[in-house]
Amino acid sequence: MMTVGDQPRARDEAWRALTKMATIYRQSHLLYAALELQVFSRLSEDGAKAEQLAAEIGLDLLPATLLLNGLVGVGLLKKIEGRFYAEPSIQELLGAGEHSVVDQLLQHKAQNPAWLGMADILRGNAERPHESYESILFASDHMDGYLKMVRSVNAPDMAGFIDLVVAHLPRAANVLDLGGGHGEHAVLLLDRLPSAEVTLLDLPKAIEVCDRLQAKNPHRARLHLRSGDALLLSSRDEFDGIMTSDMMHSFDAEGKRRIIANCIKALRPGGILAISKFRRLRDADDTASTSMFALKVYLNSHGGYLESDEEVHEMLAEADLEGIESRRIGSDKTVIIARKPARASCAA
Ligand SMILES: C[S@@+](CC[C@H](N)C(=O)[O-])C[C@H]1O[C@@H](n2cnc3c(N)ncnc32)[C@H](O)[C@@H]1O
Repeated sequence: MMTVGDQPRARDEAWRALTKMATIYRQSHLLYAALELQVFSRLSEDGAKAEQLAAEIGLDLLPATLLLNGLVGVGLLKKIEGRFYAEPSIQELLGAGEHSVVDQLLQHKAQNPAWLGMADILRGNAERPHESYESILFASDHMDGYLKMVRSVNAPDMAGFIDLVVAHLPRAANVLDLGGGHGEHAVLLLDRLPSAEVTLLDLPKAIEVCDRLQAKNPHRARLHLRSGDALLLSSRDEFDGIMTSDMMHSFDAEGKRRIIANCIKALRPGGILAISKFRRLRDADDTASTSMFALKVYLNSHGGYLESDEEVHEMLAEADLEGIESRRIGSDKTVIIARKPARASCAA
């Protein structure tokens, strides 16, 4: 039990923890500055002295030294006998070579204005920017780095999702991957079902990226890339299955309903719709493991929000889909699968 004497100590500890939380942004901004000044692409294996780096970057010695010592402070550089070095793995990721993730990391800086204005956005006093961060990103050349990042984040759950989808499909299924992005779900499914065909529909920039990423995939001939918008999907009775992963959160409730209705029209009678999403529960059991993701989506999209699993369930039921099942995959994802009635009487 806490005694009276413990209280100031606990308060001091809490204050230190809060100060750390309030100032953690300094580390992010130090990283952005080092990337913008290309510090890591100027370092060789032999390291460099502050004077040398200052001259190369075009900074005065004092600010260059502050920057470099700051990077030592956060563990991104080492300083040995007055020379600055980076670990090879850090150098690869933060330099300019083929493993560089500089573009992806700087995308986080581009999201800062929305996070800084969060209180106003949550109060509803600030317009969420008319052109949301997502709408700018999805049409930009940053999609290459973004989709590689998404692929790596979602990789652990891909096989689990595809196993569930495959279990509901005929061997020679014609499948739509809606918002399929990098194409990894599509090629996994093609690998599991050697007679299947997959159409991946996504926005134009994502289609360009997918075409490059999957150019050498042995299943490429059975992967059909289609540039389009999920809100405007107009196929009729074309697919045995439609899968969509990590996309619905970009839309408001009306958009989510419209996409579900479009999918139902695009499915053949008896076809399945499989939605993989980051978990969010409406009830008090929600562990909030995806709370930061849900906030990010709210700030970055125009009207979008991470819908609860129950909400998807209700939307599918409202649209008269049958046999709605929810399954957890991994620690943070839910897959919801439902079937279009064999004799279509769906609301769509
Ligand atoms: C987070 S990524 C998910 C990629 C992949 N499905 C996965 O789970 O890893 C979201 C994808 O949805 C796509 N997307 C967003 N809005 C879309 C729309 N209106 N129509 C089609 N695709 C869209 C994006 O271009 C992007 O490829």
